[in-house]
Amino acid sequence: MSQQLRVYVPPHPLIKHWLAVARDVNTPSVLFRSAITELGRWLTYEAAREWLPTRDMAVQTPLDTCNATFVDAEVPVAVIPILRAGLGLLEGAQTLLPLASIYHLGLQRNEETLQPSCYLNSMPEKFDPQTRVLITDPMLATGGSIMAGMSELVQRGIDPSLTRIVCVVSSPLALQKLGADYPGLIIYTATIDETINDQGFIVPGLGDAGDRIFGT
Ligand code: PRP
Repeated sequence: MSQQLRVYVPPHPLIKHWLAVARDVNTPSVLFRSAITELGRWLTYEAAREWLPTRDMAVQTPLDTCNATFVDAEVPVAVIPILRAGLGLLEGAQTLLPLASIYHLGLQRNEETLQPSCYLNSMPEKFDPQTRVLITDPMLATGGSIMAGMSELVQRGIDPSLTRIVCVVSSPLALQKLGADYPGLIIYTATIDETINDQGFIVPGLGDAGDRIFGT
């Protein structure tokens, strides 16, 4: 069966609410940060379906034995926040994935060329090929940053079909690029916005997520 990129926009009231708060230009930085944390939590909750490895075992309850399903802590799980803005989503993701290893990837988009350059990469040279990876980045605009991140992961042995991307606002252009190169990938996004302006910002979007999270 040929694989195809899957993009989920979960119809969840809390995701819609925190997206609305994040979009609002009048939301102050402290509340914007909370909104992105909450979006990280709920989008990660959705993304964990059929991704987080589990193991079935018998347990003894106070009354009887029964079969039960646990999270399998032996399969490695990694979260890759794309700095800086991905750190905001990481905070919520980490509350649900407390055993995950966190590998930071610092990518800065050049304001004129819109090309990303890498200033930090804490990933190992090779991952265990079974590793479940969750990438966090609030914005997939031209797609340059996420494509650079995916390339770093695949070079290090990560299977795109075991990878999930959690983002807040994504553009059709970025999704097309990901689908062309990584058809097995699955994305969880709070919304898809059609337009990217000349400065590379998604419209209506939510502005510069990194600046709004960190108050810069
Ligand atoms: C923003 C955003 C994404 C990237 C998206 O980061 O957080 O990482 O741009 O744009 P693209 O799809 O066109 O590559 P930025 O480079 O502004 O860095 P920051 O997170 O430090 O603010």
